Amino acid sequence: MTHESTRPATNPLPKPSFYTTLVRDLGGLLAPSSHHSEHRRTLHASPRDWILHLGNASSLLYFALNDPPYERRVNWTGWYLVYPEDQIDESVTEEASEATRKRKKSTMRLGPFQGRVACTAIQVGRGVCGAAAERGETIVVTDVEAFPGHIACDSASRSEIVVPIKVPRSWVFPHSSSADEKVVVGVLDLDCAELSGFDEDDRAGLEKFVDVVVDAVGENGWWVG
Ligand code: SME
Repeated sequence: MTHESTRPATNPLPKPSFYTTLVRDLGGLLAPSSHHSEHRRTLHASPRDWILHLGNASSLLYFALNDPPYERRVNWTGWYLVYPEDQIDESVTEEASEATRKRKKSTMRLGPFQGRVACTAIQVGRGVCGAAAERGETIVVTDVEAFPGHIACDSASRSEIVVPIKVPRSWVFPHSSSADEKVVVGVLDLDCAELSGFDEDDRAGLEKFVDVVVDAVGENGWWVG
């Protein structure tokens, strides 16, 4: 019988090395060669593989952060996604009046996650998730109570980090002329039950994590109408 006190001591890797390992593991997990059924029959790639990729990615993250030796009290890891029918092309509405633009905000819906049940829809611009999606930038919140408009899904959450998922504009709007631009199609959201649960090392590591997921989901992901 194993007791906590008899668990072998393991030195935690520094965060950058932790994320290097995690991102490498994620790449292996999401690689086409790892698409095997229970009976080892290789699955052919499907446009709906984003469901299994996002599910496995949120699980990998949740347990990597919470298992010993890290035990970071991360209580939620998951995705909010803009479905194609909810995606507003901001470049088209740019010239519209302020009132029109306010009405025309994309909505993100709850995607695969680990943690307690969460709100099912978040408008771009609302909460930490919506703010990160609107800015197209990662947001690190050291104290959720100090973030105006924070949406509380789990009362245990004290801090949060949200990383936008950005894909080439042409994947979402095939007739777009601005080939180099990126469009936000959702976010990766992590909550922690401790204040200051995330820092700049988490930002750098999780941005790479999202890049690997985007590459695995590919051009024909959920963002294709
Ligand atoms: N706190 C988020 C809402 C999502 S949950 O944390 C899972 C926000 O303010 O956008």
